[in-house]
Amino acid sequence: MKTTRIPTPVVDEHEPVRWGVLGAANIAVGKVIPAMQHSAHSPVVAIASRSLAKAQAAAEKHGIPRAYGSYQELIDDPDVDAIYNPLPNHLHVPWSIKAAEAGKHVLCEKPLALNADEIAQLIEVRDRKQVHIGEAFMVRTHPQWAAVRELIAEGRIGELRLVAGHFSYFRRDPNDVRSRPDWGGGALLDIGCYPITLSRWLFGEEPTEVVGVIEDDPELKVDRLASGLLKFPSGQATFSCSMQLVPFQMMQIFGTEGRIQVEIPYSPPFNHECRILIDDGSEFVGAAGEVITLPAVDQYRLQAERFSEAVRGVGKVPVSLEDARGNMAVIDALFKSAKTGRWEKPA
Ligand SMILES: NC(=O)c1ccc[n+]([C@@H]2O[C@H](COP(=O)([O-])OP(=O)(O)OC[C@H]3O[C@@H](n4cnc5c(N)ncnc54)[C@H](OP(=O)(O)O)[C@@H]3O)[C@@H](O)[C@H]2O)c1
Repeated sequence: MKTTRIPTPVVDEHEPVRWGVLGAANIAVGKVIPAMQHSAHSPVVAIASRSLAKAQAAAEKHGIPRAYGSYQELIDDPDVDAIYNPLPNHLHVPWSIKAAEAGKHVLCEKPLALNADEIAQLIEVRDRKQVHIGEAFMVRTHPQWAAVRELIAEGRIGELRLVAGHFSYFRRDPNDVRSRPDWGGGALLDIGCYPITLSRWLFGEEPTEVVGVIEDDPELKVDRLASGLLKFPSGQATFSCSMQLVPFQMMQIFGTEGRIQVEIPYSPPFNHECRILIDDGSEFVGAAGEVITLPAVDQYRLQAERFSEAVRGVGKVPVSLEDARGNMAVIDALFKSAKTGRWEKPA
């Protein structure tokens, strides 16, 4: 039999990837840029804002060498290798396409698109321009979730059968980007996406059918409370999320012989140890078993480092466009189910 060997590209995994940031968004200046500036090989070299003064202020504060007063100028900067896109949700796909057309790699905030169909355009430009594009689900690079996956694979809770998640906070601000229905506002796109991506990742499968129950804010017309039931080939996932409930987050993973609880599943602070409880179910009240403690880590730094390594040919983009498409298809089906009142199949 003929064997063809494809040579491994020679890359320097430590050569820095030079990042540019599109928009002085809260998440960028508050979390992602500081994390990148502390990373091994992901320096932020440029930032753009619709206001040059705002870009300059962010650049000065975060030690970023170049500031631009328009997004296109940053995309045209030949000394930027990769773009981080934290724009409002409706601008994720259009600006990510512009960046990729200019030959830039793109890490784009969640939710990557307003619906699954939009992602086809990103797949097309990624393949044609031979760039990397991924969705910024920082939870997927956090070691606590790698640890949970390992525990499941080792059989510590028997057979995985049920994943249950919740994510809520209270913010009712008409000026917030999440309060605009036409911009992809609402709780399901903003935070419901987390338990969905984690459930799909833990099962290693796509749900075959889903049911969604969604309540809109009567004035803002975006969903303020959403719940979903996802039927997987080997089990079920349930979740609820809200932008108008007491702040809380939880994720519980149930197997035939045990239960795993992740103390802070989605946004563990970078200076906070992470605890995972493994309950063997032997105590009726409370929990019996083991608590695993992981050192504090900045998941936004790890996200940037894993993406930069993928750009340098080491490893894969943590959340690929195909993976992002799977998540969006579930969200689309949940919105549809909430309207039809029936089970719907993610397309
Ligand atoms: N991964 C996470 O942990 C996480 C956490 C929070 C948010 N996010 C995601 O990050 C994105 C931004 O969220 P955010 O809370 O940081 O929002 P934000 O503070 O409102 O930032 C959005 C930025 O988009 C730019 N922009 C462009 N056109 C705009 C318009 N017409 N109106 C308003 N802003 C416009 C603005 O930058 P300039 O004014 O500088 O141009 C603005 O600062 C969302 O997709 C969200 O889902 C992710």
